[in-house]
Amino acid sequence: MACDLLFRLLLLMVLAATSQGNHLGPTSRLRYSRFLDPSNVIFLRWDFDLEAEMITFELQVRTAGWVGLGVTNGYTFVGADLVVGGVLPDGNVYFSDQHLVDEDTLEEDGSQDAKLLGLTEDDVYTTMLFSRPFRSCDPHDKDITSDTVRVLAAYGLDDMLKLDPERTFVKSIFLLQIVHPDDLDVPEDTIIHDLEITDFLIPEDDTTYACTFLPLPIVSKKHHIYKFEPKLVYHNETMVHHILVYACGNASALPTGISDCYGADPAFSLCSQVIVGWAVGGTSYQFPDDVGVSIGTPLDPQWIRLEIHYSNFHNLPGVHDTSGIRMYYTAHLRKYDMGVLQLGFLTFPIHFIPPGAESFMSYGLCKTEKFEEMNGAPVPDIQVYGYLLHTHLAGRALQAVQYRNGTQLRTICKDDTYDFNLQETRDLPHRVEIKPGDELLIECHYQTLDRDFLTFGGPSTINEMCLVFLFYYPRNNISSCMGYPDIIYVAHELGEEASDSMEGMMAMNNVEWTLENIKKAEKACKEAQQTVLIKTIDEVVENTTGWIPEIIPTPRGPCLESSGGKVEPQDETPAGFRAAPMALLASGNATLRHLPMAALLFGQGAFFWLLATLQAGI
Ligand SMILES: *[C@@H]1O[C@H](CO)[C@@H](O)[C@H](O)[C@H]1NC(C)=O
Ligand SMILES: *[C@@H]1O[C@H](CO)[C@@H](O)[C@H](O)[C@H]1NC(C)=O
Ligand SMILES: *[C@@H]1O[C@H](CO)[C@@H](O)[C@H](O)[C@H]1NC(C)=O
Ligand SMILES: *[C@@H]1O[C@H](CO)[C@@H](O)[C@H](O)[C@H]1NC(C)=O
Ligand SMILES: *[C@@H]1O[C@H](CO)[C@@H](O)[C@H](O)[C@H]1NC(C)=O
Ligand SMILES: *[C@@H]1O[C@H](CO)[C@@H](O)[C@H](O)[C@H]1NC(C)=O
Repeated sequence: MACDLLFRLLLLMVLAATSQGNHLGPTSRLRYSRFLDPSNVIFLRWDFDLEAEMITFELQVRTAGWVGLGVTNGYTFVGADLVVGGVLPDGNVYFSDQHLVDEDTLEEDGSQDAKLLGLTEDDVYTTMLFSRPFRSCDPHDKDITSDTVRVLAAYGLDDMLKLDPERTFVKSIFLLQIVHPDDLDVPEDTIIHDLEITDFLIPEDDTTYACTFLPLPIVSKKHHIYKFEPKLVYHNETMVHHILVYACGNASALPTGISDCYGADPAFSLCSQVIVGWAVGGTSYQFPDDVGVSIGTPLDPQWIRLEIHYSNFHNLPGVHDTSGIRMYYTAHLRKYDMGVLQLGFLTFPIHFIPPGAESFMSYGLCKTEKFEEMNGAPVPDIQVYGYLLHTHLAGRALQAVQYRNGTQLRTICKDDTYDFNLQETRDLPHRVEIKPGDELLIECHYQTLDRDFLTFGGPSTINEMCLVFLFYYPRNNISSCMGYPDIIYVAHELGEEASDSMEGMMAMNNVEWTLENIKKAEKACKEAQQTVLIKTIDEVVENTTGWIPEIIPTPRGPCLESSGGKVEPQDETPAGFRAAPMALLASGNATLRHLPMAALLFGQGAFFWLLATLQAGI
């Protein structure tokens, strides 16, 4: 077996034939695409098969040198995986599954888990098409998950594999986006309406939350909003950090003008039912074909609050802005009216995160048992189809977990590699049902190694938040359900005096934030009794109490065996081998003509190059 394998590898290495002009691979189009670098030199197209857990990438780079695509963890390149390939000047092709042993050195993986589908070079581009499993059995390969993936792309000007920082890029992408906009229905009678702040002078402060109240279009009968799109004015730098649209209930008299959302006039924070969330990195969002936001009936909101969070870190004066949200609506009604449920840790005033923490977890509980009585009508089971996760800069991961009758049902949504710069509404692969009585727990994971001071919950980017928005149907009147721990208990656990919440929070400033105390605080916050605040669209607030349940981690599924290669002793999960793809072997024109090249590379101790040939029909 080992001999056979060695033979195959050698055969692969020396296979030779010209590949130019042969464009190979699946004929089905790859639905998703993105440029990976600011100069638009690297273009990635991809698609995936959720059932088979396979992903296909086509990387097109303006170079005649090598190209590489992989996954990194975002904070260092060490350990990142990178699939590399290229076309040699004589037309031969090389392709290999590798990883980074330090910031710029590549090493071939013992197990080859990427399958080459096409590699071509023309006057302008080198194009590499390959597929790989979401999760191979090779510990050198990073998993492709439903989290934010830091896609690593690199290329060279020649065929010498070495990472050059100037030609290495990382881009956060949500690769496993379930719904492609092109797959959704576009109604024929679309009407467009812009919700925007008009000619607003952005203050020179670092952080501004500007709020204004705007009417929704007045329609004589029921319509559905089915799509939202950010409407951004481009300044020299990105100053709009996020935009939220809140639906207003009937209860309140709304102020006019533009003002600080959370400033002196509390009226500017009225209306708490989020209907649209957009944040840096996000794009437009279209609802599934059976869901829309209802307008035009007596039960519908007539006004919204538009909240725009500006970050003016360079304190630029005199910048005017007219950003907002463009909404698309139609009289062609969908099946369901949608709603948004806001969950998480109540932002103010109890939330704190110690400084210097490698890892700190915050928990916010929601108990839905009071939903019925607060709703004013029976609450139908909530069908969740999408979500948006939100923390600020210290956030590293979030998840929403569902419990029924004391038993954990599932993780509804999560991101283990959250990126503040990529916040967007995401669709769930399967709709999730929440029944009144269920408990929902939000866990937020922070890192504050770069901070010397306590971080508090708050609206500014340097404060923190821990929020999950669930998009669901059919709508009800509940707008948010958020928890926070008994801070007096937490203070006592840390050896501090406190007789009310305010003193409890003040006491946190007295704690010496050693590693031990950070762990103690995390544990105390989790053990403490939670107060759960539930709010309706008409600003009715009620509370209840509860305890944070344990989160049982979801076990990972089995890995997929590799398609060839050798296993290194340190690979704790030995990959099995299937035969190398037939076409690769059968189509070869084996000569020893190209051995010197391989030998040269071996000689330099650089890499093990797998020379493969490409012929039509692979
Ligand atoms: C922004 O652009 C304007 C012209 O469009 C220019 O006058 C100004 O100096 C720029 N500011 C910065 C900070 O680059
Ligand atoms: C809102 O007000 C309108 C009339 O102003 C009324 O018909 C409707 O029932 C109210 N909706 C709710 C939910 O109270
Ligand atoms: C929870 O358990 C009780 C008693 O076992 C049962 O009556 C109830 O229907 C359960 N609730 C749900 C939502 O399954
Ligand atoms: C919202 O509350 C009103 C009463 O305030 C009730 O009539 C209505 O049915 C509720 N809406 C939903 C969707 O449950
Ligand atoms: C919770 O509700 C009770 C009674 O409805 C009220 O007295 C109390 O102030 C509320 N607590 C909070 C934290 O809102
Ligand atoms: C193999 O390559 C040689 C020279 O490159 C060529 O003459 C020959 O026709 C090729 N054979 C096949 C089967 O492609």
